[in-house]
Amino acid sequence: MDFKNTIENRRSVNFFDPKKDVSDRLLREMVELAAKAPSGFNIQPWSLIVLRDRDSKMRLRQHAWEQEKVTDAPVTMIVLADMDGWKLENAFAEKNFNEMIKSGAMSAEQRDWFKETCTSLYGASEARSVAFACKNTGFFAMALMLAAKSLDLDTHPMDGFDIDAVRKEFAIPENYWIPLLLAVGYFQEGKILYPAKWRKSYDDIVIHFDK
Ligand SMILES: Cc1cc2nc3c(=O)[nH]c(=O)nc-3n(C[C@H](O)[C@H](O)[C@H](O)COP(=O)(O)O)c2cc1C
Repeated sequence: MDFKNTIENRRSVNFFDPKKDVSDRLLREMVELAAKAPSGFNIQPWSLIVLRDRDSKMRLRQHAWEQEKVTDAPVTMIVLADMDGWKLENAFAEKNFNEMIKSGAMSAEQRDWFKETCTSLYGASEARSVAFACKNTGFFAMALMLAAKSLDLDTHPMDGFDIDAVRKEFAIPENYWIPLLLAVGYFQEGKILYPAKWRKSYDDIVIHFDK
């Protein structure tokens, strides 16, 4: 599927075929394609909890407005955004810094500068930390949906869930925001997909402010 078709054909699919599984191989391909998403300083503050068995999905569904797609889809993901992902004490941030040195994008002497820059950009307040984690993970989540469609899979993003209850149920540490859940599978043949939703036009989107 070319990119235009992929983006045109992606829909939030309410009905998943519970009998049509997604293989581990396909899921891995989807996730690793999506991991090409960009992120600030390439920090990649995203992680996924992948639920496949019915019991785990039921545990999630009870905190997600009882949305049936949570359990109908063969795979439902809890998408996590690490608010501490930029901190150099974090193993991936450290790896990323070392990779930047290796590639010549940064020198070892810039470590303190990098630390201070990240602190002021992403750690100056809770709002900044949440924004850092969620904007980057949002790009990843969009890439997940498009990668899925390009592999003939369907998805459904959800923020209809109780974040505190999901955190408790799955013992998710406080440094993770949970921007969304994502159901992944195949649209159930015979069900009716709602008509495509309206979208803002170019003129609706482009705005300006006068001083
Ligand atoms: C972050 C996010 C959260 C959403 N949460 C829900 C949800 O909890 N339940 C639901 O039925 N749809 C949910 N949706 C789906 C939207 O309603 C849907 O994307 C929108 O109406 C556009 O339709 P389309 O995705 O088919 O183009 C969510 C979408 C996004 C991006």
